[in-house]
Amino acid sequence: MKIEGQAALVTGGASGLGEATARELARLGAKVAVLDLNTTLAEKVAAEIGAEFGDGRAVACSCDITNTDSVNAALDKAAAAHGPARILMNVAGIGSAKRIVAKDGNPAPLEDFVRVVNVNLVGAYNISRLYAAQCAKLDPLEGGERGVMLFTASVAAFDGQVGQQAYSASKSGLVGMTLPMARDLAQHGIRVCTIAPGLFATPLLKELPEAIQQSLAASIPFPPRLGKPSEFAELACHIVANGHLNGEVIRLDGALRMAPR
Ligand SMILES: NC(=O)c1ccc[n+]([C@@H]2O[C@H](COP(=O)([O-])OP(=O)(O)OC[C@H]3O[C@@H](n4cnc5c(N)ncnc54)[C@H](O)[C@@H]3O)[C@@H](O)[C@H]2O)c1
Repeated sequence: MKIEGQAALVTGGASGLGEATARELARLGAKVAVLDLNTTLAEKVAAEIGAEFGDGRAVACSCDITNTDSVNAALDKAAAAHGPARILMNVAGIGSAKRIVAKDGNPAPLEDFVRVVNVNLVGAYNISRLYAAQCAKLDPLEGGERGVMLFTASVAAFDGQVGQQAYSASKSGLVGMTLPMARDLAQHGIRVCTIAPGLFATPLLKELPEAIQQSLAASIPFPPRLGKPSEFAELACHIVANGHLNGEVIRLDGALRMAPR
């Protein structure tokens, strides 16, 4: 799909990988809706995109992907600003680290597992189903294509570390959902792909002490550095542009395989 002129939605667009994706989409000529729980940051990113690429090129939409009313309100606001979207980048997510049996012998709190799976997996599914139903009603573009959807998993979907049960379960849920969703939506001309990032230099990792960042970077075979959010954004936009990519999960990790801890 040609990105120029399309309306695009980016969840988690206020920070990190989502922010980079929103900026790259705008650079390639898309009209971007920045959907995020953090409204203040979303407004800041949208204003910066507007200042760089022209007024009206980005709109901030306050959105909790786990809440259907909130998602519908965000989809309505984005559509009112830019028209119906053909691109949905699901980037919003949260992390967590909890051993199933804590050092004091107590079981991990169930609420933590439920919270992470609810945001990362159920929330991504929630907005995707609402978006897909709208997208399926649009006129097809050349070749019958109507839309493209991306999910953001993690290498933790495959090699989760100690304490990552909830995070890994949520991310491997996205991996497992990719093919059946692509098969479901094939009849509507909507493609679905997932990126599984390794270690990227986003606010989360940049807050770690420099020595830890360096040791994480050194664990990556090549290049031995953290991924740049712009590299994630480039792949996300390539997936939109490449009409034959569908139902696939792509690791973007410099050949990193995470150690147990
Ligand atoms: N940074 C990495 O190294 C890395 C590696 C693998 C996977 N990932 C995944 O990439 C995605 C982005 O990570 P990041 O490092 O850019 O994180 P980040 O914390 O910088 O950005 C995540 C954004 O998601 C938003 N968000 C959280 N819950 C939300 C909700 N319920 N509704 C709407 N928005 C919500 C946050 O407000 C935030 O702006 C996440 O899904 C993360 O799991 C990141």
